[in-house]
Amino acid sequence: STPRFLVTQEIPEPGPSILRDAGEVEIRSGMSADELREAVTGGEYDVVLSQTSDRFDAELLGAATIKGIANYAVGYNNIDVPAATEHGIAVGNTPDVLNDATANVAVLLLLGAARRAHEASEHLRSGQFEGLRPDLLVGQDVTGATLGIAGMGRIGKAVAHRALGFGMRVVFTQRPPQDREVSDDELGDLAGRVTQVRWDELVERSDYISLHVPLTEETTHLIDADVLRRMKSTAVLINTARGPVVDEEALVRALRTGEIFAAGLDVFENEPAVEPELLELPNAFLLPHVGSAEQGTRAGMARMAAENAVAMARGEEPPYPVTV
Ligand code: GLV
Ligand code: GLV
Repeated sequence: STPRFLVTQEIPEPGPSILRDAGEVEIRSGMSADELREAVTGGEYDVVLSQTSDRFDAELLGAATIKGIANYAVGYNNIDVPAATEHGIAVGNTPDVLNDATANVAVLLLLGAARRAHEASEHLRSGQFEGLRPDLLVGQDVTGATLGIAGMGRIGKAVAHRALGFGMRVVFTQRPPQDREVSDDELGDLAGRVTQVRWDELVERSDYISLHVPLTEETTHLIDADVLRRMKSTAVLINTARGPVVDEEALVRALRTGEIFAAGLDVFENEPAVEPELLELPNAFLLPHVGSAEQGTRAGMARMAAENAVAMARGEEPPYPVTV
C-alpha cells in the first residue's frame, strides 16, 4: 500500500517533493501532544517527519503504530532511542549538513556577547549615541584569548577552525564531564593546533566556553552554579547545543552578579519559555534557536529527513540512522 507520511511542521524543498514522490503526505503544523499521540498510535501513518519539540517517550513509543521517526535535526534528545529500537521503530537524524551553520551561530554569539552587540544596538536605536568615546561599550578581547570547546564532535571542530582563524587559543574536552583522550587521528587537521585539557582545567582557564555536547543525563546542567563560580569573571559562555546543558536560573544569577561577563545563547532550558530575567539582562545576547537556519542547510536537512522517512516506510535501513 501507499506509504503515509506525517510531517509535524512545514519543511522546505526538496523535502515535500521527495515524500510526495514516495507516498501520501500530510503536513499538520502545531499539533498538541495529545494530537501527536493520536496520530502516531492510530495506525494512520507509516512514518513521522518530526521536530525536536515533538516528544517521543517510552510510553508513547510502546503504543505507537509507526515504522519510523525521521527527526528534522541533528539532536535527538526528544526521542527515547532505546525504547524506539525495542519496539522496532527506526530513528533518523540530519548530521553534518548543519555543522557549519551552527558553528557560524556559535561565532556570532561569541563575538556578539564579547563585543556587547545587543547593548550597542540598543544604545544606537534608543537615540543615546553621541559620537565615538573611548569608554563606550568596551568589550572583551577575542584575538589571543582562550576558547574552551566543551565537546569536540563535528560542530565543536567547525567552531575550532573558526576560532583559530580569529587568532584564538583553543583548548577542549572531548566529552565533558568525562575526560576521554582523543587521538591525533580523530582530530584530523586540528592535531597540534588545539590542546586537550581536563574539564576542570577548561572551566578555569577559558576566556570563552562554547558548548557542543549532546543533551544526555550526564550533560544536563553540565554548567551549574559551581562551574559558573569557577569560571573567570571576564568569561563568556556560549550555548548552541541544548538549553538544559545549562542551569538557566544559575546562569541568570551569575550574569546579574558579574560572576561571568556575558552569555550568548541560541537555546534555552524550557523552550520556547525563557527565564524572564534573562530577557532583561544587557549581558545576555540571545537568539531564538536559529543555529541551523541557513537556506542551503535547511534544504539539506529537509532532503536528509525525507530520504530517511522514505527508506523507513519501505522497511529499509535509513541513510542517516540513529542507533543505540
Ligand atoms: C537543532 O537544534 C538540531 O539539533 O538540529
Ligand atoms: C554535536 O552536536 C556533534 O554533532 O558533535
